[in-house]
Amino acid sequence: MKRRDFLRSAGLLAAGTALSGQTSSAKAFMEFSENTGNDLNSINLPIRSLRADVDKPVSVIIIGAGSRGKTYSKYADLFPEAMKIVGVSDILDHRLKFLSDKHGVAPEMRFGHFREVFASGRKLADAVVIATPDDRHFEPCMKALELGYDVLLEKPCAQTEKECRAILAQAKKFGRIVAVCHVLRYAPYFIAMREVLRSGAIGDIVSIQHMEPIQYAHMAHSYVRGNWRSSKETTPIILAKSCHDLDMLRWLIDKPCKSIVADGGLHLFKKENAPEGAPLKCTDGCPHEATCPYSAIDIYTRKKAHLYVFDLNGKNDVDSIMAKLKDPAYDNYARCVYHCDNDQPDHYVSEMVFEDGVTAAFSMEAFSPRGGRKTRIMGTTGYLEGDGSKFTVTDFRTRKQQVWDKKISDIPEYKDAGHGGGDLALARDFVEAVAHQDPSRLSSTIDVSIESHVMGFAAERSRKSGKKEKVKV
Ligand SMILES: NC(=O)c1ccc[n+]([C@@H]2O[C@H](COP(=O)([O-])OP(=O)(O)OC[C@H]3O[C@@H](n4cnc5c(N)ncnc54)[C@H](O)[C@@H]3O)[C@@H](O)[C@H]2O)c1
Repeated sequence: MKRRDFLRSAGLLAAGTALSGQTSSAKAFMEFSENTGNDLNSINLPIRSLRADVDKPVSVIIIGAGSRGKTYSKYADLFPEAMKIVGVSDILDHRLKFLSDKHGVAPEMRFGHFREVFASGRKLADAVVIATPDDRHFEPCMKALELGYDVLLEKPCAQTEKECRAILAQAKKFGRIVAVCHVLRYAPYFIAMREVLRSGAIGDIVSIQHMEPIQYAHMAHSYVRGNWRSSKETTPIILAKSCHDLDMLRWLIDKPCKSIVADGGLHLFKKENAPEGAPLKCTDGCPHEATCPYSAIDIYTRKKAHLYVFDLNGKNDVDSIMAKLKDPAYDNYARCVYHCDNDQPDHYVSEMVFEDGVTAAFSMEAFSPRGGRKTRIMGTTGYLEGDGSKFTVTDFRTRKQQVWDKKISDIPEYKDAGHGGGDLALARDFVEAVAHQDPSRLSSTIDVSIESHVMGFAAERSRKSGKKEKVKV
């Protein structure tokens, strides 16, 4: 659907005029007035079906059958007429078998290491999904592009700016589609926010304040004990966690970032902060276990959070989880948060200047009770404030407000879609882009995805040097 048609069907063209006070539809669109205290009026943007517009299934090889690989393969479960999993690669036999069996993958299309996928030198499917750990994105992506695959590439694209730029050059050289998994762009909440901004509802954007609260237990799980604890083995947290947010700021402002300055560090999760007598693992009889907010026993057995890493296959009783916490394959998750080999900052602030002097302040915070990105957008004629699931738009000229507040979980197709629906909506758009060989079906080009990664690398240089960094694309 063309943008203008989309806006018209969403009522936003009317809203744009209404907001400038030129038509009587203003009243119909926004009835709330601060003076009268009426209920907020809804912004009725349609949410696109997850069903892809394709004539036949796109064939896909999943490389990395872990959490994200399984997430995208769900699209094939839901819409087999649009996506078919014809191959799986994983170095862990049980994960390879699980996903391959689920999708009836032929024995010769079950691969261990990703190099086996490319060993024949032939293209075996339309596309590959690269969902391996961060340090194993670059090599399979470069090889896949060379062999003519289109690629759904998990973020961050690669571990260095040089490698990111090489992926961009390779995509152009071989004329292939690379969709980077900046899934928030595909979430109805952020799509609606962007469309409202583009309708002129708050005038020109002057500045943004954006915060990503990680949530304290999520921080402990992923960035202290878990896969992204080391900035060197993966990527700095501004990319590993917050490349979504940099990309989102670039997308909402719709102008390139020119410079960035950053600060922050690791405040809490280090050895000198260990309470007296804390053993190396929570499971070793820690005297502080009952009161420690970061206790592994509490996070996994009582709160039952983040259990997807344990390959429990539905057996999430306390004994099964405790057995995993003592299993050498998983016991890094039992470690005391003060005795890990982590270096990722637990607080990170940055200020960015975009073209035309638009500014953005971004802050990533570990110490928060819950996740849910918070965004405040200041415009020349209005203001938008969002909490990650609903947002409110205030018009200074009319002193009226309207709200976007859709419950994605109430829409059956979107029920189990992670990232506010973004995971499966990205899979839909990728399938369409491949089927029609039309990258414009994606929210982002590979060029812009790499641009927002370049912002992240500049932020990290600034955090370390204390200097403002230019962002050169
Ligand atoms: N887009 C998002 O919002 C989002 C969210 C979480 C993670 N991620 C990214 O997705 C990627 C995967 O994360 P995950 O949580 O699924 O990790 P995971 O550990 O659950 O899955 C990765 C899988 O890759 C397999 N693997 C490792 N080396 C391999 C190799 N050489 N060949 C084939 N398979 C190999 C592992 O055995 C594992 O099963 C990471 O880069 C991560 O940063 C993105």
